Amino acid sequence: MSRSIAQSSLKRLLLSWLLGPLLGLLAVASVGAFYIARTSATDAYDRALLDPMQALSQHIETVNNQPILKMSPESLHSLFTDAYDSLYYQLATDNGHIFAGSLRLPVPPRLSTKPLFYNAIVNGRNVRVAALRIQLDDSPNYVVIQIAETLTKRDHNLYEILAIMIAPALLMVLAAVILVWFGINRGLTPLQKLQADIAARSLRDLRPVPENHAPEEVRPVIVSLNTLLNKLAAAIDGQQRFLANAAHQLRTPLAGLQTQVEVALRSDMSDDLRATFKQLLVATQRAAHLANQLLTLARAEPGALHLMSMQHLDLANLIEDVIGQWLGRANTKHIDLGFEIASAKLWGDPLLVGELIANLIDNAIRYTREGGYVTIRCYQDTGAVLEVEDNGIGIPESQREKVLERFYRVDGSPGNGCGLGLAIVQEIAKLHEAELVITTPEHGRGTRIIVHFPQQTA
Ligand SMILES: Nc1ncnc2c1ncn2[C@@H]1O[C@H](COP(=O)(O)OP(=O)(O)O)[C@@H](O)[C@H]1O
Ligand SMILES: [Mg+2]
Repeated sequence: MSRSIAQSSLKRLLLSWLLGPLLGLLAVASVGAFYIARTSATDAYDRALLDPMQALSQHIETVNNQPILKMSPESLHSLFTDAYDSLYYQLATDNGHIFAGSLRLPVPPRLSTKPLFYNAIVNGRNVRVAALRIQLDDSPNYVVIQIAETLTKRDHNLYEILAIMIAPALLMVLAAVILVWFGINRGLTPLQKLQADIAARSLRDLRPVPENHAPEEVRPVIVSLNTLLNKLAAAIDGQQRFLANAAHQLRTPLAGLQTQVEVALRSDMSDDLRATFKQLLVATQRAAHLANQLLTLARAEPGALHLMSMQHLDLANLIEDVIGQWLGRANTKHIDLGFEIASAKLWGDPLLVGELIANLIDNAIRYTREGGYVTIRCYQDTGAVLEVEDNGIGIPESQREKVLERFYRVDGSPGNGCGLGLAIVQEIAKLHEAELVITTPEHGRGTRIIVHFPQQTA
């Protein structure tokens, strides 16, 4: 039941509420109209039967105490010929002896001198009969005149009256349905616009939905929705702040710890102890890296829009600024680090786009064997494009979606990463509405990651 209500459309609901009663009313009105029309048509045509009756009565004479009809066949013919209906008559004495006419109808008992009208069947056809009992002028005898008429005219008239009464009502029902249909459609237009507005929103857009365009009846829904959006934004904000604070708080003691371990390593100690301290240093570096990555992620998450400082950027400048810091690491691993840099303009946050580039280069160098190559490329297409390509171990096709998840690392990946690098890249790409694609370089080995920024508009 609740399912059918939830699924029923407003249009269908209103139309069924409207159509049911309207058709009911129409049915009642039609039955009423039918009876009124039949009564009035019957009365009028009944009265018309009195004329030939009158004419007949004036031509009855008494001969030898027996009544006879004295009328020429021509007169009779003209009296009982009608364009639509067949007419029959019969004249009988009071005691039922028929002395003229083509009808063979029983004589109604207890006739008064007022005409009596009733329905009967003659030769298998429905007829209307008029009967009258009159006293002949020159005798004490009574004669009963009966005239029967088929119902063609009456039926025709009845249908005409019915059509005149019901057709406009039917038209009105039809018009009401059409008006309601279009009215609802029009009334729902603002809702459809609202729906499209909300559907077009990105995950990051938690601004309140505008209330003023919505119909009054829907406004409470929008108000509630906005309240919810507000709460959601506040909750996300709080979470983000917590993550950022926690990561930030962790960084300082970790940096201190790292320095202490480095200092300790410089002093004399047994080889065993030195090995332990070296492991401690690696673990500390890893923890510091994790804290840094978490901080970056917090800044790149949806809802952190207000923390961003968007500006005109050129990928070429951003890459040139960091070339130096990567050359050292590439050299130690004997990796041929190449740059193919052309101006590529975009609208973005310099810190975040810098993080995106750094994470991609870091991965490329990390997951490429000694003696391999890493190429960093940027150029202008419809928007700015960044490509980081290597001939390293590559990412299997089945893993290309998974590696974007937080804390996910391909099994057996070398190094001590925490699995946040590509998640950060993806968040930053989303923030900039950029498209992120992981493929294989043309010669078929390694990894090629392409970030396609949108056309610069602002
Ligand atoms: N250039 C690359 N070549 C091969 N594998 C890669 C490359 N970049 C990322 N990966 C794979 O994707 C996983 C996730 O990467 P990332 O999110 O940066 O985490 P991390 O580097 O900390 O492991 C890595 O563990 C690695 O297996
Ligand atoms: Mg990484």
